[in-house]
Amino acid sequence: MEKRAETMETMDKTISILGIAGSLRKDSFNKALLRVAVELVPERARLEVFDLDGIPLYNQDLDSQPPDRVKEFKKRIMAADAILIVTPEYNYSIPGVLKNAIDFASRPYGDNAWNGKPVAVMGASIGMLGTARAQYHLRQSFVFLNMYPINHPEVMVPFVEQKVDQNGRLTDDKTRNKIRELLVALIAWTKKIRSA
Ligand code: FNR
Repeated sequence: MEKRAETMETMDKTISILGIAGSLRKDSFNKALLRVAVELVPERARLEVFDLDGIPLYNQDLDSQPPDRVKEFKKRIMAADAILIVTPEYNYSIPGVLKNAIDFASRPYGDNAWNGKPVAVMGASIGMLGTARAQYHLRQSFVFLNMYPINHPEVMVPFVEQKVDQNGRLTDDKTRNKIRELLVALIAWTKKIRSA
């Protein structure tokens, strides 16, 4: 009975998602995607954004005394129920800025902030594959990080420059619907993992 009550409580709780865009660029298309996700997040969830600006280059010598910005980043990750990563594609992989931040938050060994977090991925590029190659590289890291990615839908936005207006707002309805679907799937997946 007690277990059942606990499960019901878990199912009803608002899910908090931390959104991270792998670009520092002011007019980043991937930041635009993340802004849309914030707009579209269902009522039973909350999506907050962490900007990777200010995360220094990872140096293992800093493991025992991480910079304040990294401490803050890890705290925000650990407090979140789920993670949403929005990645650009750089040279067929994820940008160094994103990889660097992922590495920092995974250390020191034994204090991996990503451990056990459900995660969803999306990304936009000006190319025709819409970050597909970068996303599969990112998924590979989830194995060692012990994250739980959702598989579907895959949100890979090609030719993104044709899908935003001059104010940097994503106007393409098909892409907006996919982002909404991704959020719904992430929330369901997070609840499933919690209740398991
Ligand atoms: C790119 N771009 C790119 N696009 C792509 O589809 N595949 C790729 O491998 C690359 N490689 C790449 C490398 C580097 C160093 C840069 C700067 C760019 C183009 C990329 O899709 C475009 O710059 C996006 O606008 C980057 O995302 P943000 O910053 O707009 O979010």
